[in-house]
Amino acid sequence: MKRMTKRDIIIIPDPVLRKVCEPIVSVDDEIKRLADDMLETMYAAPGIGLAASQIGVLKRLFVLDVSKEEESEAPMVFINPQITWSSDELSVYQEGCLSIPEYYEEVERPAAVKVQYLDQTGKEHEIEADGLLATCIQHELDHLNGKLFIDYLSKLKRDRVMKKFTKQAKLVGK
Ligand code: NI
Repeated sequence: MKRMTKRDIIIIPDPVLRKVCEPIVSVDDEIKRLADDMLETMYAAPGIGLAASQIGVLKRLFVLDVSKEEESEAPMVFINPQITWSSDELSVYQEGCLSIPEYYEEVERPAAVKVQYLDQTGKEHEIEADGLLATCIQHELDHLNGKLFIDYLSKLKRDRVMKKFTKQAKLVGK
């Protein structure tokens, strides 16, 4: 039986979320355990994607599950992901982020991408994704580069949400 631990999710304006994550050198037991913990944390939140930096681990790994509620769970683990192709066609999705709770805004991104990555067994994959999966992959990959979906919004909107969460963090800190 797998032992999984739910981890704490880091919220903005924590500067950890702005750090660039390091490539994973070998997919060992520690990485497998990290992926399991991240899936556990993501499902418990609940959310459809989680990057390692969101639990304070600066490694190039994210997990996601875009299956619909009525389907069974379909966890995906992406290690050292790289986008090798993006479509010219764009699509708009309303995005949210576990590090920016209860805040949603529309973001425009390439509608389809090809992504190369290793799974939690160290096996290499390249998939072409579109729809929600393509958006999720791009959102999570941004996290590994210290980028958040609010970076795509107007400065006015971004400043407003940053201010709100900075105020909340101060209240919690007291
Ligand atoms: Ni996010």
